[in-house]
Amino acid sequence: MKFRFALAIAASAMLAAAGVTSAQQPIVIKFSHVVAVDTPKGKAAEYFKKLAEERTKGRVKVEVYPNSTLFKDGEEMEALQLGSVQMLAPSLAKFGPLGVREFEVFDLPYIFDGYDDLHKVTSGPVGAMLFKKLESKNILGLAYWDNGFKDMSANKALRVPADYKGIKMRIQSSKVLGDQMKALGAIPQVMAFSEVYQALQTGVVDGTENPPSNFFTQKMNEVQKFLTLTNHGYLGYAVIVNKKFWEGLPADVRTALDGAMKDATKYANDIAKKENDDALEAVRKTGKTEIITPTPEQRDAMKKALIVVHKDNESRVGKETIAEVYREVGFKP
Ligand code: LMR
Repeated sequence: MKFRFALAIAASAMLAAAGVTSAQQPIVIKFSHVVAVDTPKGKAAEYFKKLAEERTKGRVKVEVYPNSTLFKDGEEMEALQLGSVQMLAPSLAKFGPLGVREFEVFDLPYIFDGYDDLHKVTSGPVGAMLFKKLESKNILGLAYWDNGFKDMSANKALRVPADYKGIKMRIQSSKVLGDQMKALGAIPQVMAFSEVYQALQTGVVDGTENPPSNFFTQKMNEVQKFLTLTNHGYLGYAVIVNKKFWEGLPADVRTALDGAMKDATKYANDIAKKENDDALEAVRKTGKTEIITPTPEQRDAMKKALIVVHKDNESRVGKETIAEVYREVGFKP
């Protein structure tokens, strides 16, 4: 009896070492992100959890931590590399500090006309090249998820570049975005997403840029009097995992999770536009923020001021990477 007990212990230890856990001990995937649940990313993360748990029949448990409750910007990448969290979906504008600056090609102003352009790039050679670059950092890229196109906000009306002169604008940790604000005469300030509401409220910064879904779900309409529909740039995500963890999963579990991710990606990209349209409508309804639609002349003036950012960042983002994206989307500078 004693011997059989010892055998069972040894066997379960061996299985655990091989990454196989018993029914009582599911494989836990902590999935941390910084936005609200009621956003394209928040909803897609929940959908992935549902599919992953169903399809692995409970062998995998996905714990989603929204709203920076587990890790904030500036902490989460390191936490992923160390294995304190297994899955993240940072904005493509947040990979520069990790040393993969080519991701900032997505931040170039006016480079994409719409979601179709984006999908040409994420499903093409540039999308694949970017994921390849993550591997040496113990990170695996699984998918690209859409959010939407950004609008500028402040407590003053922002119509033309002159309106930006001297105002402090919060940005994500991307040098391209810093250059974008500087090209408008504004002062960029990198700040974690979780700190933006308070910074706007207390005047640490004057304004920011967001897709409507982030603007509305962070209640920025309470602290920003004007939102200008500039649509000047894109914000989307790369879903990434700790490479060692992912590759150590039992093959059947990994297959099920890859399938769940594929379906969650379709879901994310299907809902993104509507989520943003609805959020903009919701901002309008609150009546707290005036929504400005720029005239064609104002839009042209913004474009003219911002297009220099492409050339200025050739050495950072890669001349070839930019040229490839231009080709894929048919962009003519
Ligand atoms: C931001 O920091 O503004 C965004 O990256 C937040 C997000 O994840 O959408």
